[in-house]
Amino acid sequence: MSAEDDVPAMSSPESTLTVTDNRTGRSYEIPIEEGTIRASALRQITTGEGDPGLMSFDPAFTATASCHSAITFIDGDAGILRYRGYPIDQLAERSTFLEVAYLLMNGELPTPEQLAEFTDTIVHHTFVHENIKKFVGGFHHDAHPMGILVGTVGALSTFYPEAKNFTDPVNRRLQMARLIAKMPTLAAYAFRHSRGLPYVYPDNELSYPANFLSMMWKMSGRYEPEPVLEHALDVLFILHADHEQNCSTNAMRAVGSSRVDPYSAAAAAVAALYGPLHGGANEQVLRMLREIGTVDAVPAYVGRVKKGEFRLMGFGHRVYKNYDPRAKVVRQIAEDVFGVTGLNPLLEVAIELERIALADDYFIGKKLYPNVDFYTGIIYEAMGFPVEMFTGLFAIGRMPGWLSQWEEGLLDPEQKIARPRQIYTGQDERPYVDMADRRHTDHDLVEPPPKPIGGD
Ligand code: CMC
Repeated sequence: MSAEDDVPAMSSPESTLTVTDNRTGRSYEIPIEEGTIRASALRQITTGEGDPGLMSFDPAFTATASCHSAITFIDGDAGILRYRGYPIDQLAERSTFLEVAYLLMNGELPTPEQLAEFTDTIVHHTFVHENIKKFVGGFHHDAHPMGILVGTVGALSTFYPEAKNFTDPVNRRLQMARLIAKMPTLAAYAFRHSRGLPYVYPDNELSYPANFLSMMWKMSGRYEPEPVLEHALDVLFILHADHEQNCSTNAMRAVGSSRVDPYSAAAAAVAALYGPLHGGANEQVLRMLREIGTVDAVPAYVGRVKKGEFRLMGFGHRVYKNYDPRAKVVRQIAEDVFGVTGLNPLLEVAIELERIALADDYFIGKKLYPNVDFYTGIIYEAMGFPVEMFTGLFAIGRMPGWLSQWEEGLLDPEQKIARPRQIYTGQDERPYVDMADRRHTDHDLVEPPPKPIGGD
């Protein structure tokens, strides 16, 4: 099939882009649909035989749509986030996390009967195979919970080999329910292992967030969750439940496009989330606030950020060029939580940091606002979670989003295996050099250091 065959038919004469290739003088008319052109339409633009045609270069997908999706809408300039059309603040105020998970997966909020059935399904899959405990026990005592989660989420695929048969919708939905149900169990096991504490089995009489808190904190007797903290955690899960084509969701879709089972794809998504520029930022924010320590140290720290020594963690976003709407809800939750736990002393530092940054030309000019991770860490810390657990909490919340996006990709007739192209910058063909004749020094092999990130 030639590249031209991939070019969809034009919808109307006005919705086209006329491109003139100044190398050849030839003009091309490229259809514009849904505010985009098909990158494959560029392949018809060639200088002649042997030229495979033009490509676009977009290493971080800054202006490339990778799929159609009906799940989450973001308007980054206006600071809008909606799941299936519902504004995030309304969902945070009025829904539960499991309702939102159902919404993301099915497109509609559940009726009472649908929610009862969905909750029952999740509750019946919270336990993990006993061998998973042995698995977790094999990790080093100070293993990072996200490292353990990458391993254990991926390992689930070995316990459910039938998960490969995900073209069967019933089987696919079963695996999705298992993943949502087991995430809190795996995350809590990772924590208990790090403390040398016995693992706590799920308590299916409790709500989704309360069961997680029970598996984290229970020592003996029945665990009674503090209702404000239980609710706050549920809302935080809602805020993290999906965020369209971010780094980890892109990983889930890209790995899933190879038609691997959902556990393996989800392990890739967890790994992507672990990074400090993505979900790992919540942990880095808290480390940063501790490093700053006091309000009077904030201006000097901001000065170092402006000099390019490191980034202000919890600030900036690829899509939001306005206040992250999730961060607004998080600030409200913080008040509820601190009402129960007492004030986190780092809150003052965070507020001062935000105040100074939002009035500074550097941050204004680059449209850098607090993102969801800026205040979540302070809340998690006040609730007693150690910093290493913060990104795991994000992962629990994000699982329904990853799975909904994965399923949407599988069912999309346009989905093919993700396979970007490259611009080759290496050597031309050259003859093999025998060992005795190799003259390059170690200096030739040294790579430039990566760009700085957090202040640690
Ligand atoms: N502190 C200081 N400068 C920043 C920051 C920051 N947090 N974020 C971006 N910049 C600067 C950056 O140096 C660049 O400046 P210049 O144009 O002079 O080179 C400019 O702003 C644009 O940055 P970018 O790296 O091109 O922006 P991006 O869209 O690729 O990156 C980001 C988005 C979130 C990775 C970035 O803002 C960042 O590193 N933030 C800190 C980490 C963080 O909080 N991540 C959590 C994101 S929200 C939760 C999630 O979805 O994971």
